[in-house]
Formats: sequence, structure tokens, C-alpha cells
Amino acid sequence: MSDATGTVTDPLEYREGRGALDFGMLAVRNGLLTAEQLDQCRAKQAASANLGENRTLKDIILTDRLMTEEECLRVERAQQQLTQDRERKQDLKFKGYEIISTLGEGGLGSVFKARQVSMNRLVAFKVLHNQWISDDEFRKRFVLEARIVGKLSHQNLIQVYDVGREGDYYYFSMEFVDGRTVEDLIREAPRKQMEVGRAVDICIQTLRAINYYKDFDIVHRDIKPSNIMITRSGLVKLGDFGFVKSKLDKELGYEGMVLGTPDYIAPEQAMGKDDVDYRADIYSLGATLYHMLTGRPMYDGTPSKVMLAHTRTPMPDPRTYRPSLSDDVVNVLMRMLEKDPNKRYANITSLFADLEALRDAHTAKAATKYEIGKSSIMRALNIEKSRHNEMAEKIKAAEAKAEAASAAAKVAWGVAAGACIAAVTFLILWLAT
Ligand SMILES: Nc1ncnc2c1ncn2[C@@H]1O[C@H](COP(=O)(O)OP(=O)(O)OP(=O)(O)O)[C@@H](O)[C@H]1O
Ligand SMILES: [Mg+2]
Repeated sequence: MSDATGTVTDPLEYREGRGALDFGMLAVRNGLLTAEQLDQCRAKQAASANLGENRTLKDIILTDRLMTEEECLRVERAQQQLTQDRERKQDLKFKGYEIISTLGEGGLGSVFKARQVSMNRLVAFKVLHNQWISDDEFRKRFVLEARIVGKLSHQNLIQVYDVGREGDYYYFSMEFVDGRTVEDLIREAPRKQMEVGRAVDICIQTLRAINYYKDFDIVHRDIKPSNIMITRSGLVKLGDFGFVKSKLDKELGYEGMVLGTPDYIAPEQAMGKDDVDYRADIYSLGATLYHMLTGRPMYDGTPSKVMLAHTRTPMPDPRTYRPSLSDDVVNVLMRMLEKDPNKRYANITSLFADLEALRDAHTAKAATKYEIGKSSIMRALNIEKSRHNEMAEKIKAAEAKAEAASAAAKVAWGVAAGACIAAVTFLILWLAT
């Protein structure tokens, strides 16, 4: 079980709950299981719990022959290693910072909520798993690149504040974002498919960040749902530049345990080209949009199969998973996800224009729905108004009738009084004569 800040408080949930330390999630991250298979296994697990059987996830995975014993062992070993690593890190004292709670766990490190004492501000504090950091060249490069990224400042980027080392551990601190990741939003959406207008808006805001840092010749290299956060007010914050990953990808290869699946990697990156530019980020953003809209990454399989698919296999038709997607949406996806960077959007301006048109069309659709809603409210109000008018007329008519009656009564009274006066006058005159 975890508390409101995400701190793991129950060791059982620590193993079985959501997050990178969870057996199922680790298996998915390493391409040993698809997200769909994991969902099915969890459903079976819940059904068995209802029958009082309490089968473990591993047991179900093995029975269904989704993974081998050996693969399960690898995941358990990684799980153990990560758990120990996280506990060690949480006990460490980092000069100038107070660790408050755990925010999450990624392939490359643990992220903590912390307070930077000198500035008295909340920060997200990422401590890298030290087993990945073995060579000097890597360490130098990590610090250097973190410093370059630290100079960037844009409202759609998570600001990097500080980079450093404590004992064997390398860390960097960054702006703390009080919000959710796109990965969370996808998980929570109906059928894991986000509303088109919302997904496209997230894409536009992320593109603003790309448009800003590309002028510094910087390439993010790791745009994906878990690296895009949304604040409570809807502001997109892109974080976690892949400066750490780029080197590790090459060193360890994609079968390296817990490095994460390359679901969003551009073909030129997958082929190990050195001279990638911002167009690789456009591809990753396209792959992220594909996931937001269809509820699944483009390709399934082991990391190496997925990598290969990014270089060769055409984009699977998104309408297989969401038939209602318009031609315009599919066309934008196709152009963002061209294998050859030269065939991708020629410039960011035209991509902005196409995304904005999509967002406006879908926002207009949403507005039309609202109009329908509004018109039915108006219709109801009109019916009420005419009923009111009818009532008012009836009341008026009744009042008029009553008035006419009282006028008639007055006349009658007048006539009667007149008659009386006339009669008395007649009597007096008659008596007088
Ligand atoms: N700046 C931040 N502010 C608040 N929470 C954050 C911040 N950065 C990361 N997190 C939280 O920490 C979690 C783990 O992040 P992390 O980057 O380690 O994982 P990841 O993106 O899944 O993997 P990778 O190591 O490949 O980047 C995120 O899902 C998010 O919930
Ligand atoms: Mg990340």
C-alpha cells in the first residue's frame, strides 16, 4: 500500500503493487510480457482471489506459458536488486537535500520528492542506479550534458536545477511537478484511449518545448508517456532528457535488464546513428500520440523485436484499435512516424498547423456536443416559458373576467342605486302632490 505521496508503506504491495518494482510491470518493461497480457493475468488473479485461491501473478504467467521459469527468475532478480538499491538510496544522505518520499522508479534510477535546503523548495530528486554507471567517460558526459540541459528554461520543460555525486551515486535535482504523467492518464482513460482533443493538445505543448530546445542543437532522445507530466492546471512539462540513456543504450544493448522497452524510439536512433536531430523527437512524439489514441504502443515484443519493427515495419493502422479516428488524425500520425527523417514533417511550423487544426476540429466537435446539450436546455426553458405564458394569460383572463364581473356588479349596483333614488324621488314627488 502507498500513502498519498506515493511512499510505499506495505512491503507486500511494494512487490505486488503498481510501479517499476512490481513483477508484472518489470516483465512488461523488459518486453517479456505485453501490457494486454499483464491485464489479462491480473484479471485472472482477481478472479482467483474471489474464489479464495490467491494465486500469484508469476504462477498465472507460468501456467499460461507466457514466460519461462528462467525469464521469471531474471525478473525476480532484477526486482530484488532494485528493491535493495532503492532502500539503500533512501537511507543515504545527500548534502543539501532532505529526502521526503518516493515518487517512482524508472529503468535508470529512483525518483524522490525532496527539499533543497538552501532554497527551501521542493524538488524531484533522481538518483541513478549505480550498477549502470561504471566508466569514467560516462560520468563526465552525464555531468556535462546535465549542465547543458540545466541552462534551458521553458514553461513546457521540467527545469533541471542541480547535478552531483554522493559516494557512488550520481543524482540530479529538478523542478517538482505536482501532477500526473501521460502514462497515468493513458492507464486511467476508458479502454486506455485518451480523448483526441486532449491528446493532441498534449502533443502541441510538448512540441513547443521541442521547438525551443532544438535551437540549442539539443535532442531529447527519450520522449515517451512517462516522461511527459501534466500539472493540475493542464500545463505540459517534458522531463528526463535522455542524456543518460543515449550512452547506456549503446553500452548495454537493448536486452539489458530494466532499461525499459524502446516503444517510442526513432528508427535512426534504433539503428545507432550518432547524428540524430530533433526529428527523432518528432517521431517519438508521434509514437506517444499513437499510444495515447489507440491505448497501446505501436509494436509488441521483446526490445530487439520492437527496435527492429521501428526501423522496418510500417505503422500498424491505428483504426484497427480505434475505428472512429478521422483520416486527418491518421495522416498526421503517418507523417510524424515516417521511418525516413527526411520524409517526416519538413518543419515544425507545418506540424504545429496540422496539430492545431486537429485540436480545433475536435474541440469544435466537443463544443457541438455542448451546443446540443445547450439547445436541449434551451428547449426545456422555452417549454417552461410558454407554459408560464399560458398560465399568465389564464390568470390575466381570469382577472379580466373577475374585473368584468365586478364592473357588471358595479353597474348593477349603480342601476339599483339609481332605481332606488328614482323610486324615492318619485315617492317624494308623489307625496308632495
Ligand atoms: N519532476 C518530477 N516531478 C514529480 N514527479 C516526477 C518527476 N519526475 C519523475 N517523477 C515521477 O517519478 C516516476 C518515475 O520517473 P522515472 O523517470 O524514473 O521513470 P520512467 O520515466 O518510467 O523511466 P526512465 O528511467 O526510463 O525515465 C514518474 O512516473 C513520475 O511519477
Ligand atoms: Mg523518466
